[in-house]
Amino acid sequence: MSDRITIAPSILSADFAHLADAIELVERGGADLVHVDVMDGHFVPNLTIGPPVVAALKNIATVPLDVHLMIDNVDSTVDWYLDAGADLVTVHAEATYHLHRVVQRIRSAEASPSVCVNPATPVSVLRDILADVDMVLLMSVNPGFGAQTFIPHVVDKVHDLVALCASLGIEVPTIQIDGGINAQTVVACVEAGARCFVAGNAVFGAPDPIAAIAEIRSAAQAALG
Ligand code: DX5
Ligand code: ZN
Repeated sequence: MSDRITIAPSILSADFAHLADAIELVERGGADLVHVDVMDGHFVPNLTIGPPVVAALKNIATVPLDVHLMIDNVDSTVDWYLDAGADLVTVHAEATYHLHRVVQRIRSAEASPSVCVNPATPVSVLRDILADVDMVLLMSVNPGFGAQTFIPHVVDKVHDLVALCASLGIEVPTIQIDGGINAQTVVACVEAGARCFVAGNAVFGAPDPIAAIAEIRSAAQAALG
């Protein structure tokens, strides 16, 4: 398991009228990725941004775009996000009957495939796709909105995932946690084996987003021991 901590600020909590400024700010703060929350009003009860905005963000971002698809019909629309320039693409296991096909499609487009489960979905559903992905995203809130409270059970799921990989004899993919992450909640996640952290409200809701990224990173680094 890598000891590299990566931070992915979520622009869901940024000012949508000034997304370029938000991205420039977090890049200056050392963001490793920019997390883009795509919501369709069906899979989750909120509607955010779509492929044209992802394409526009791709034109200005200097770090990879980490595109989290919270959408139905992902089989027929994943190409839109690949064409828009998504670098990492996360697909929910709950959103498709054909997770393997979608993951293959992402890989064949030379993007990095990632799979995700909601808080009530066990990591065991990912068993037969783990060897094919670069990252697993474990939701630590029910997706749809920023600034929700961290659900601590995700820490048990990180342990479950690490154990599952060991039982399969495969390397642990990067484990990303999304929802309610801050300098406090990140600690137990790192101790359990997660390495990549999405943070929306803790970054863009802070008076100094650059300092907030640094705080989350240093708490995570310290937890590595
Ligand atoms: C929730 C989104 C998250 C959200 C996280 O549905 O997937 O990426 O932006 O926001 P915070 O960090 O505020 O919980
Ligand atoms: Zn997200």
